[in-house]
Amino acid sequence: MFLSVLYVVLTVTYSHTSADTYWFLRIKSKFVDTEGVLDSWSPGANICSWNGLKCSANFTQVVSLNLSGSGLAGSISPEVSHIISLQTLDLSSNFLIGTIPPELGQLENLKELHLYSNFISGKIPAEIGLFEELASS
Ligand SMILES: *[C@@H]1O[C@H](CO)[C@@H](O)[C@H](O)[C@H]1NC(C)=O
Ligand SMILES: *[C@@H]1O[C@H](CO)[C@@H](O)[C@H](O)[C@H]1NC(C)=O
Repeated sequence: MFLSVLYVVLTVTYSHTSADTYWFLRIKSKFVDTEGVLDSWSPGANICSWNGLKCSANFTQVVSLNLSGSGLAGSISPEVSHIISLQTLDLSSNFLIGTIPPELGQLENLKELHLYSNFISGKIPAEIGLFEELASS
């Protein structure tokens, strides 16, 4: 007798950006967006078209979040640390309060972090080997 085993191979087309959509919406929920700059952050739209986000050339990864001077209040969600592909994070010149989440230290690809001109306290996590000039003030 045959015992036939059927292997079902599920090919999951996994794109980083679809997981990132979830995290960015969590991040959005911590911002107070009085100017509506995050209106384009909607699950129905491709994340690469969202305001302030830049994707890699092959559109598989979000590499930059720049919402400098966007009138944002609220705080920086520690969940930013889940956007592991981020190379640039610029939230400078807003009205953000709270502390710099230590979790930002998990962003191993981060090359630029700009948080100046906010109402944020705390230190840039030591894990991020960033330059002094990028420190929050
Ligand atoms: C897309 O580009 C990123 C960054 O340049 C790279 O790390 C990644 O491997 C590329 N993915 C594919 C599927 O080509
Ligand atoms: C972010 O965008 C502003 C203009 O909107 C620009 O002046 C600034 O250089 C950008 N930040 C980075 C890190 O590219």
